[in-house]
Amino acid sequence: MDTIPPAGRVIILLGSPGVGKGTQGIRLSRTMGWAHVSTGDLLRAALKAGTALGLEARRFMEAGELVPDDVIVDLVREHLAAMPSGRGVVLDGFPRTVPQAEALGAVLAEEGRRVDRVVLLEAGEEVLVKRISGRRSSPGGRVYNVHFDPPRRAGYCDDTGEALIHRADDQPETVRKRLAVYHEATAPLVGYYDAGGVLVRVDGEGDIARVQAALLEAVGVAHGSTVASD
Ligand code: AP5
Repeated sequence: MDTIPPAGRVIILLGSPGVGKGTQGIRLSRTMGWAHVSTGDLLRAALKAGTALGLEARRFMEAGELVPDDVIVDLVREHLAAMPSGRGVVLDGFPRTVPQAEALGAVLAEEGRRVDRVVLLEAGEEVLVKRISGRRSSPGGRVYNVHFDPPRRAGYCDDTGEALIHRADDQPETVRKRLAVYHEATAPLVGYYDAGGVLVRVDGEGDIARVQAALLEAVGVAHGSTVASD
């Protein structure tokens, strides 16, 4: 695939729960000066703030099910509209269904943009379950892992000192449901974007730095390069 200019790029991180979309999305957006839009983070923020959206989303999230497409599409549309035009963006956890992908295509087309790359992060189920069981997050959203990426002081955020939390939807039964929903509703996006010629597969089983290097290569950025924020 060609290397394309970084400004205005739209990159989607696709993959199972726990594969590392959030971890890599934050790193990629920081390296490139792009926005990182995680629908999971937006929904959790709405839930914490007690907004109508948060209240509506709660029962779906707690059950490990997808929040309805129209709710998610409106949320992302608003978010993209509020961003400086032409800013690169990493979408993490969106789209998650074919109707969401079609809606995203239409929203981008209105601005003369398109999806430039879809990176499918891949890892076996055993790895996913271990990562999810070890995940701990700060209230501000920094993600750790007790097995693979622990904080300096166990149980507390390195940045803020706040106590780390275990996500409510990371309980084993809900995780099984989320994995099943991924296979049923989200996996068809692999064929959808492959047919569009924008899908790249990245092995997500290596350590965080290794996956990051492979991801930068997949989006056409040399490892170690940085681009100023716009
Ligand atoms: P969301 O928050 O998007 O959850 P998810 O897709 O299930 O993904 P996760 O956040 O579990 O995993 P991740 O891939 O980001 O992994 P992470 O980097 O944290 O969505 C939650 C819910 O919101 C959904 O179930 C749904 O209800 C709703 N929702 C969200 N978007 C929606 C949409 N578009 N439509 C409808 N509903 C929607 O990594 C996991 C752990 O592993 C961490 O501890 C990390 O430190 C560690 N780790 C990461 N990479 C590595 C590595 N290479 N080596 C070792 N450890 C690693």
